[in-house]
Amino acid sequence: FAFDAESEAQIETIVAKYPPARKASAVIPLLYVAQNQMGRLSGSAWLPRVAMDQIAARLEMAPIRVYEVASFYFMFNVRPIGRYHLQACTTTSCWLRGSDDVVAACKTATGIRHMGGTSDDGLFTLTEVECLGACANAPILQIDDEYYEDLDGPRTVELIEALRRGERPAPGPSIDRMGSAPSGGRK
Ligand code: FES
Repeated sequence: FAFDAESEAQIETIVAKYPPARKASAVIPLLYVAQNQMGRLSGSAWLPRVAMDQIAARLEMAPIRVYEVASFYFMFNVRPIGRYHLQACTTTSCWLRGSDDVVAACKTATGIRHMGGTSDDGLFTLTEVECLGACANAPILQIDDEYYEDLDGPRTVELIEALRRGERPAPGPSIDRMGSAPSGGRK
């Protein structure tokens, strides 16, 4: 692993925001830069150890400190993942609104049998995550860095099939909430 020119430019901008004595504070954005580069160049957005070691050296941190940060936050992947990272929220609001159906649809449409698994074609990895802070539009499926909202089983299958075709559906709410207001409610 070596940072490419695009990543080097981002790193220069990020590190310049911090006082030299506090540059370890840049560890999270630099982990993002490394993970995004892996996704851009290899199709699997994850953090090989050598990338974390390079970040540690640049920020003058003990490598274990970088590993701790990377393994603590679920947005960082310390193992290879599929081209698309399906992250299903199963916390209370999403569960009450049908996250079981979303998870089942993810498994059916990808062939993944268990949480944390990757499809045989290497396109999808499915993980379970805690509340994503978007409960109002539950249930939520985060795909890479974007939220897909108000899902049910069929809409989840459609979404995954579109990704498989190389399309990228617009994130956000997937139903017309204004149109679904109850009679006498807001129109
Ligand atoms: Fe799923 Fe909050 S419970 S976004």
